[in-house]
Amino acid sequence: MKKKKYLVLGGKGKTGRKVVEKLTQLGKDVRIGSRSETPSFDWEDSSNWADVLKDVDSVYITFQPDLAVPGAQEAIKKFTSEAVKSGVQKLVLLSGKGEKEAEACEKIVMNSGVDWTIARASWFNQNFSESFFLDPILAGHVALPKEEALIPFIDTTDIADVAVEALLNEKHSKQIYELTGPRQLTFKDVVEEIAEAIGRDIHFQAISMDEYEKMLSENNVPDDYIWLIKYLFTDVLVPGNSEITNDVEKVLGRKPIEFSEYSKETAKTGVWNQNVNEQV
Ligand SMILES: NC(=O)c1ccc[n+]([C@@H]2O[C@H](COP(=O)([O-])OP(=O)(O)OC[C@H]3O[C@@H](n4cnc5c(N)ncnc54)[C@H](OP(=O)(O)O)[C@@H]3O)[C@@H](O)[C@H]2O)c1
Repeated sequence: MKKKKYLVLGGKGKTGRKVVEKLTQLGKDVRIGSRSETPSFDWEDSSNWADVLKDVDSVYITFQPDLAVPGAQEAIKKFTSEAVKSGVQKLVLLSGKGEKEAEACEKIVMNSGVDWTIARASWFNQNFSESFFLDPILAGHVALPKEEALIPFIDTTDIADVAVEALLNEKHSKQIYELTGPRQLTFKDVVEEIAEAIGRDIHFQAISMDEYEKMLSENNVPDDYIWLIKYLFTDVLVPGNSEITNDVEKVLGRKPIEFSEYSKETAKTGVWNQNVNEQV
């Protein structure tokens, strides 16, 4: 019998990379969706999508930069219809927990006519080691708004494990999972935990949303990214979106990873010891 092929979009990114690793370890046939693979996959250029989808049975979809941005619905609609036309049987979509705007994209996947699972994730732990919160950590000064927000940060290993389960096991068919970590933390808590893990002082400064926006603009962050960051801080970091769920445990049969475990393990990699200008 022909071996099933799995396509992982964002297969070099924070969750996709781990999904690729896990599927490969399990002996599965995996294609990485990336702008640097052949055939390359680019959300902004559909000319290669048919090649990328050739012989693929199941897809893990991570969209860039976020399902809430203008244009995301059109891209998801176009991709899912090409995927279904090409013979894909299962779609697993990574979405954002508490992102009302992303739900339109979820519905497109749910109504695609093939099997689906939606993984709505809370903010990732790895934003502090592989993304936009890394530089302030390295600089030893983290200035952020929403000081009061309680965030149930989740580890990308948990999301990837859920995605792999959803790809491999039919019992996750037509399920929406809300994925959070086991504890609510404020940004100040996060900074204190990372500072303790690396044995260095990191100063946390609470600022207003307007001050943050001005700071991003002065650092030449593009306007559409500022729009997205503002949306994520104002619409997603709200009290109604801070509850802890038990969906990770429901799917994986184990507890989600603790932030302190993430910070201790990440400290060992040395990523927080580099000079702010020396990042790979
Ligand atoms: N970060 C969070 O806290 C969080 C929380 C909830 C949900 N999410 C959702 O998770 C998804 C992934 O977000 P992330 O920021 O964590 O990114 P990520 O999965 O780390 O993805 C980064 C990857 O995106 C790829 N990429 C960038 N532009 C692309 C394009 N035009 N076409 C194709 N690939 C492109 C790059 O791959 P190549 O360079 O290899 O092409 C890069 O490796 C987003 O939809 C986001 O909304 C994120």
